[in-house]
Amino acid sequence: MVTEAAGGVGSVATALLARLGYSVTAVTGRPKTHNYLSKLGATDFVDLAELSEQGKPLQPERWGGAVDVAGGHTLANVLAQTCYGGAVAACGLAEGPSLPGTVMPHILRSVALLGVDSVMAPKPKRKAAWDLLNEKLDRDLLSTMYTVHGFDELPDLAEKLMANQIQGRVVVTV
Ligand SMILES: NC(=O)c1ccc[n+]([C@@H]2O[C@H](COP(=O)([O-])OP(=O)(O)OC[C@H]3O[C@@H](n4cnc5c(N)ncnc54)[C@H](OP(=O)(O)O)[C@@H]3O)[C@@H](O)[C@H]2O)c1
Repeated sequence: MVTEAAGGVGSVATALLARLGYSVTAVTGRPKTHNYLSKLGATDFVDLAELSEQGKPLQPERWGGAVDVAGGHTLANVLAQTCYGGAVAACGLAEGPSLPGTVMPHILRSVALLGVDSVMAPKPKRKAAWDLLNEKLDRDLLSTMYTVHGFDELPDLAEKLMANQIQGRVVVTV
């Protein structure tokens, strides 16, 4: 599963995982993005509201693995719903930097929490990531994930970003 799937990180994660053969469940707070996410390869959807409140430390097992860009209660609930032996990549803090969960998923279900940082990642890892993108990321899909805007549009874009009205990535021509 991929949380905040309609954002920049979530869109790429959804498309890549689908291409790699996984059944992708997309978590989003915006139902109007379902059609976009279906085209990227998502086959199921979960409303963000189902995950963003405090939940039980262990919940029914639902996910083989997850890419999370939310943090906060959403990440804690994703961990609590991950199947025995699964892994969750923590990439972001769109909801918040806290991790209000317990060790239960880790010590009772062997669930792994994997840290992801793209800024200081060493060159071999970067090369492996770019090779994977080059090989597996569909260029036609990629072109649906971004829009191009002029520098003078930045104030308007910033307001839209904060109001969660932007889908995928924005490329600014400086
Ligand atoms: N670890 C790394 O190396 C790395 C690299 C890049 C980014 N990041 C982090 O990953 C996160 C996402 O980055 P991004 O570039 O994908 O951002 P983005 O394009 O702005 O997307 C963020 C998504 O988060 C959801 N969202 C927005 N406001 C929210 C809120 N108040 N509570 C919960 N969810 C909210 C929305 O998803 P829906 O509309 O689908 O609900 C939105 O599309 C950020 O925290 C960023 O700092 C980390």
